[in-house]
Amino acid sequence: MILNITLGVIAWYEEGVLTVMSELPAEEIRVIEFTEADAEEISELFKQVWPLALEYPEHWRKKRMYSPEQVIDDMHNGYHYFGSRLQGRIVGLYKARITDEGLFGEHQTVRPECRSTGLASAMYIQFAEYGRAHGCIRNYCNILVGQEIGEKLMKKYGFKPWGEPYEQAEGMFVQRYERLL
Ligand SMILES: CC(C)(COP(=O)(O)OP(=O)(O)OC[C@H]1O[C@@H](n2cnc3c(N)ncnc32)[C@H](O)[C@@H]1OP(=O)(O)O)[C@@H](O)C(=O)NCCC(=O)NCCS
Repeated sequence: MILNITLGVIAWYEEGVLTVMSELPAEEIRVIEFTEADAEEISELFKQVWPLALEYPEHWRKKRMYSPEQVIDDMHNGYHYFGSRLQGRIVGLYKARITDEGLFGEHQTVRPECRSTGLASAMYIQFAEYGRAHGCIRNYCNILVGQEIGEKLMKKYGFKPWGEPYEQAEGMFVQRYERLL
């Protein structure tokens, strides 16, 4: 049972033990791979989070609100969806695919009530592990130019800018970052 979801504090009892999620180190948050059976729930999470991601242009936010069919299509086209569940419910995820250049990650999405608990951090740790396990030479991703939290995560996990910022979509400038594995 989730006891409290205020001010980013999420706590629950399991077998008599009280766990406070914000006190769990990112290394201990379990990141798993989702399957087609999770497509509805993944789509629901995108539809909750992306309308509120106001740092991005509206056309991009709309594009990020995938339907379940788009998620399944992605899975058939080489994308892996990874993330975490809390009490059975998906609370955060991202998608990744292996390219000639390495393991590319995008679309990172965390439920608003579960932010600042280390979920995105846990995903960056697993991103490296998955890349290494599959012989990728680097992790890479795009971060919105000036997005404080994204830039903070890049620094925290040893990513370096890769090339110059570019316009990924109309009016939306991103910086590509890489982390050699
Ligand atoms: C970006 C996002 C995925 C981060 O998820 P998160 O689980 O809250 O991230 P974490 O808890 O791992 O926090 C990472 C760090 O950023 C800090 N942080 C959290 N929210 C922040 C904010 N709004 N501004 C600045 N720093 C912030 C955390 O304190 C933490 O710092 P620490 O490691 O020094 O403690 C989440 O905010 C989100 O889903 N945003 C909307 C979609 C989006 O912009 N996605 C990015 C696509 S590339």
